[in-house]
Amino acid sequence: MGRYLVTGGAGFLGSHLAAALCRRGDAVVVLDDLSTGSRERLAACGGGAELVVGSAADRDLVGRLLGGCAGVFHLAASVGVGLLAKRPAAAMANNLATSVVVLEEAAARGVPCLFTSSSEVYGTRARLPLREDAALQLPALSQPRGGYACSKAAGEALALALHRERGFRVVVARLFNVVGPGQSPRYGMVLPRFVQQALRGEPLTVYGDGAQTRCFTRAGDVVACLLRLFALPAASGQVVNVGSDQEVSILALAELVRHATGSPSAVVHRPFAEAYPDLTDVERRVPDLTRLRGLLGSVPSTPIADVVGEVVAMLRTPALVPPQG
Ligand SMILES: NC(=O)c1ccc[n+]([C@@H]2O[C@H](COP(=O)([O-])OP(=O)(O)OC[C@H]3O[C@@H](n4cnc5c(N)ncnc54)[C@H](O)[C@@H]3O)[C@@H](O)[C@H]2O)c1
Repeated sequence: MGRYLVTGGAGFLGSHLAAALCRRGDAVVVLDDLSTGSRERLAACGGGAELVVGSAADRDLVGRLLGGCAGVFHLAASVGVGLLAKRPAAAMANNLATSVVVLEEAAARGVPCLFTSSSEVYGTRARLPLREDAALQLPALSQPRGGYACSKAAGEALALALHRERGFRVVVARLFNVVGPGQSPRYGMVLPRFVQQALRGEPLTVYGDGAQTRCFTRAGDVVACLLRLFALPAASGQVVNVGSDQEVSILALAELVRHATGSPSAVVHRPFAEAYPDLTDVERRVPDLTRLRGLLGSVPSTPIADVVGEVVAMLRTPALVPPQG
């Protein structure tokens, strides 16, 4: 049992993580500026988490909160294609500033850290499956997607440099399309958007032909991996893909949602560029999970149909729907 700081803990994944720590009996401090997060998301912590509303880029505040902590999970970031397309400069500056402050302050105090990065760092044309040790090919930096990838890659590089230079105990987790109850459809996340459209009887909007694939991973499975990686000395100083390698096309996902909801909604196709003129879509994104399997002995494997079922059940029950940031 210990005290943990979770930055971005009032967000989608952070609130799942905070709840898991509380269930374990740990004391949790959540630092969140509530830009996309909400305090209601912490209901699952049953009062076990203390919420501090403030910025993870505030050096004094972060330094103070790290005092007496056994670890910090850094999740605070501006996330989601919608948000990135709308406010690319602010999103990038936020991601850079929060990562520099949290990593430097944790390293200065010897507080172990788990840094959440993203499969976006692999760019749009990397060889599949995506391996952690491959040279990165960032997307064009003229695109919001490039700025996000770059900000996450810079955070990774700083984490690893602090590890090399000062023996800072840090794990970098590259996350792949996390899904599950509590995710907001507001910032371009495809599964909650499809479910919301299906439940409203609206058409499900697929950008492009829908043949593009993703490997969706259940939030609960991701959290279990993050907790285990954090506790594993062998993971320190490593970059680790965290996700499922079950590939699903966006069109197949739309069909799963229609089936799970029993919705008569049609699927309509729209050009990706119409919705996001500044973004290039990524055709396929499949992680190589050799390193994760080697460290943990297992990898996330909840079938996507089960996760779709969970999300549908939650969005069908208005009392369970988290406020959308
Ligand atoms: N969800 C995914 O599929 C996915 C995939 C790859 C990586 N990630 C990473 O996982 C982390 C969590 O993502 P999420 O999906 O839960 O997003 P989210 O938007 O739900 O959560 C991010 C949280 O950070 C908070 N935040 C933003 N800027 C802040 C700041 N300056 N100070 C304090 N809090 C701040 C927001 O209010 C929000 O609660 C992010 O770092 C993201 O890059 C997520």
